[in-house]
Amino acid sequence: MTFRVTVLGAGSIGVFVGGKLAAAGAEVSFVGRPRVLDEIGAHGVRLTDLDGGDERIAASGFRTETEPGSAATADLVLVTVKSAQTAAAAAQLSDRVRPDTVVISLQNGIGNDAVIRAALPATVSAGMVMFNVVHRGDGHFHRGTDGGLAVADDPALARFAPLFGRAGLPLDRHPDLRPVQWAKLLLNLNNPINALSGRPLREELATRDYRRCLASAQAEALAVMRRAGIRPARLTAVPPRVMVHLLPVPDAVFGRVAGRVLAVDPMARSSMADDLAAGRTTEIDWLCGEITALGRAVGVPTPVNDRLTELIRAAENGAERRWQAPELLARLRGASSPGPVRATGH
Ligand SMILES: NC(=O)c1ccc[n+]([C@@H]2O[C@H](COP(=O)([O-])OP(=O)(O)OC[C@H]3O[C@@H](n4cnc5c(N)ncnc54)[C@H](OP(=O)(O)O)[C@@H]3O)[C@@H](O)[C@H]2O)c1
Repeated sequence: MTFRVTVLGAGSIGVFVGGKLAAAGAEVSFVGRPRVLDEIGAHGVRLTDLDGGDERIAASGFRTETEPGSAATADLVLVTVKSAQTAAAAAQLSDRVRPDTVVISLQNGIGNDAVIRAALPATVSAGMVMFNVVHRGDGHFHRGTDGGLAVADDPALARFAPLFGRAGLPLDRHPDLRPVQWAKLLLNLNNPINALSGRPLREELATRDYRRCLASAQAEALAVMRRAGIRPARLTAVPPRVMVHLLPVPDAVFGRVAGRVLAVDPMARSSMADDLAAGRTTEIDWLCGEITALGRAVGVPTPVNDRLTELIRAAENGAERRWQAPELLARLRGASSPGPVRATGH
């Protein structure tokens, strides 16, 4: 059977995952903005990865549209827009999807699946993409880190499992995805730090003071989660509570003990860095903002995550600076000095 798949949000994740499904035999429609659709229409899609994989899908191997008309006949809809666009995307789907359509939110953050579920009659499952994708232009999308797809298990997903398996993206099904979502959020607290650093992920994570920034944000988030009774899943070789002690060790030691953390494509950046570079609103409210809101609810202060939000907000509003590691660390720890300003190209 050929599955019809609509990918709502043809960007880094949407084109990578949808492209893999098309290569595995699905009939894929990408819903996106003309700039991306024109690009993949002209060049087709090329999908590479850090393990040497290199796959091409000719433009005749998928469809493109700017409105999700294909959702009316889709077996599966993947929502791959940024969190700020989830409500609008769900509204577009609401009068199109059928009750027997399965929708998977493949987005970072905690509440996107609930926003979609509230708007649709369909089965909606939460999902998480555990790898990073870099959009390199001319239809080329590159998976820059390890990782797969995690989803909240639902019997309706079972029939799609072979398709994802053939696509090389097996579904890692969890009875409850919340612990995975919270654990991924802890990792994604690096997104604002990476964006503020103006550096590729590998270079940023190889720098002790940036890792100290991340450790501070994660330690604070863990304190909030503990108070709220949330136990994040273990997604990395070391559990989250150990990670906050591992991150601040000297660079040479970190390089030896955390090899896979630094096994990142040398050019990969966080998607928040891409958003700032493109002048788009970021997902900061769905990352640090989620910690701030939970902290407020359970009575735990969250100054580090609050300051990260402030700095990203300033960057969204055009503040052009590339934060050196020691000055960012000082700022997150409460120092008020603005430090030297440098152009970033954001
Ligand atoms: N990129 C990564 O490496 C990565 C890794 C793991 C998880 N994630 C998560 O995956 C999700 C998607 O991220 P991404 O980086 O793939 O985002 P992205 O590259 O910005 O792709 C989303 C695309 O969808 C478009 N779009 C938004 N609303 C639309 C609508 N209603 N109709 C048609 N097109 C629409 C956006 O256009 P506009 O820009 O004009 O809005 C954008 O081109 C996010 O939650 C992100 O945190 C990303």
